[in-house]
Amino acid sequence: MGPPEEGELRARLERAGQPHLLRFWAELDAAQRDALRAQLDAAGEELGEHCRRAAEACAREREGPGGGQRLDGRMRPVPPEFLGSACRSDPATLERWEEEGFRQISQNKVAVLLLAGGQGTRLGVPFPKGMYDVGLPSHKTLYQIQAERICRVEQLAGAKFGTPCSVPWYIMTSEFTLGPTETFFREHGYFSLDELNVVMFEQRMLPAVTFDGKAILEEKGKIAMAPDGNGGLYRALTDNKILEDMERRGIQYVHVYCVDNILVKMADPVFVGFCVSKGADCGAKVVEKAYPAEPVGVVCCVDGVYQVVEYSEISSETAQMQNPDGHLMYSAGNICNHFFTLRFLQDVAAKFEPLLKHHVAIKKVPYVDEEGILVKPLKPNGIKLEKFVFDVFQFAKNFVAFEVPREEEFSPLKNADTADKDTPTTARRALLSQHYRWAVKAGARFVNSSGKKIDEKCSLSGDEDPPAVCEISPLVSYFGEGLEKSLKAKVIPSPYFLDKDKAEILTHLPWSC
Ligand code: UTP
Repeated sequence: MGPPEEGELRARLERAGQPHLLRFWAELDAAQRDALRAQLDAAGEELGEHCRRAAEACAREREGPGGGQRLDGRMRPVPPEFLGSACRSDPATLERWEEEGFRQISQNKVAVLLLAGGQGTRLGVPFPKGMYDVGLPSHKTLYQIQAERICRVEQLAGAKFGTPCSVPWYIMTSEFTLGPTETFFREHGYFSLDELNVVMFEQRMLPAVTFDGKAILEEKGKIAMAPDGNGGLYRALTDNKILEDMERRGIQYVHVYCVDNILVKMADPVFVGFCVSKGADCGAKVVEKAYPAEPVGVVCCVDGVYQVVEYSEISSETAQMQNPDGHLMYSAGNICNHFFTLRFLQDVAAKFEPLLKHHVAIKKVPYVDEEGILVKPLKPNGIKLEKFVFDVFQFAKNFVAFEVPREEEFSPLKNADTADKDTPTTARRALLSQHYRWAVKAGARFVNSSGKKIDEKCSLSGDEDPPAVCEISPLVSYFGEGLEKSLKAKVIPSPYFLDKDKAEILTHLPWSC
């Protein structure tokens, strides 16, 4: 069947309540008309329904999340038997979980899956967030840091069980991020990973809609589209036959994470081992909420199923409730870092994905006005509908949560440096503080550029720089392990970058620390 004629297109858009999309039709050249037709065909008969649903959902959302309903009376914390902790477990237990995780990795059963389809509007750079350099001494980007962590965890698992192994890296991108991400990886030789083990795929896009339910034109012949949220993962897995690829490789466990957490432990053997030991089909890493009103989603049980509850969905009394030990009762802060079995993902893709609800994101969406002039709005003007990756917790048969220390595992890059949190500065500081702690623990001492000793400081608050700058390549150490050999009793000039091939240039100075 050929492309629909203009009259048919107009009739279809009238029926959908979207005739304005052809407002500039007469001015478009043939290629622009084809492109717009293709967009409209892809949106299909559902366009009108999508726009109406978006406007209605937005109106409801403005009454408050969940239509203003509070969840207080229906919530329970994650029961202790389903909650593990990297902070509160004894070393032998942690070692057991880690060993189990490494075993699974060494048997090629673990993959990592990066959610990298977001537009990163708050950070405000015109390229994918993974390509961002937060200003480390090495100037490594988030993508490179993550690639090197995969490389190192493969080496560690391989060495422990005496067998080479690989951790395939699945990267979900969107129309915005796929092209530049592919080029970036190619230009950097896949950061020494085997190209065959890096699988990029694309999530779907949905039209952005005004508050009164009209699809937005971002150019005279182009509808503004936005990726369908990180929960678009489940449709994208099906669209791109990713689960078949995982099955073919013998993958059983998938660690899913966000692109922007500079401290992310990819394929974390402790987390994987914990989830596997518990027989979990779905797991979430969490960090303790910093304070009751912190705007972070909390993992808990509502009406008997697990979900992430936003701060705005509960009363401040509930947010402040404490356990007898003084910790917040609802303290399991979601950090978008999840464990899934392949079987669980297969069930979600086959049965549950259509049941996931859309959430409303209200954003500034550039548009062309009635004269066809591009407007960059200063205030949010558009609705994007998104699914969330964690909305599948409700389908788990055996859900577990695993608490990790925030300063070791979570520092997201969300905003530009004009904001006061989750910025390039806070991400860089979190990583350099962690590496400083590792170096000091391994026995290193620091001097400044004039050779003067820098006093040690091991407890650093999140908003201060470490006394000395020492970046450690993930190719040298995944999580602080194995540093004694190069750092014990060594004196390091700050700033310093400990790279794979540079360990030998460290110096000894004649004082005893
Ligand atoms: P965020 O919610 O922080 O969104 O995504 P974002 O798009 O990166 O940034 P803003 O809100 O526009 O500033 C959390 C994670 O989910 C991924 C992001 O790439 C990030 O890793 N994500 C988000 C997707 O993969 N697809 C999406 O449609 C949205």
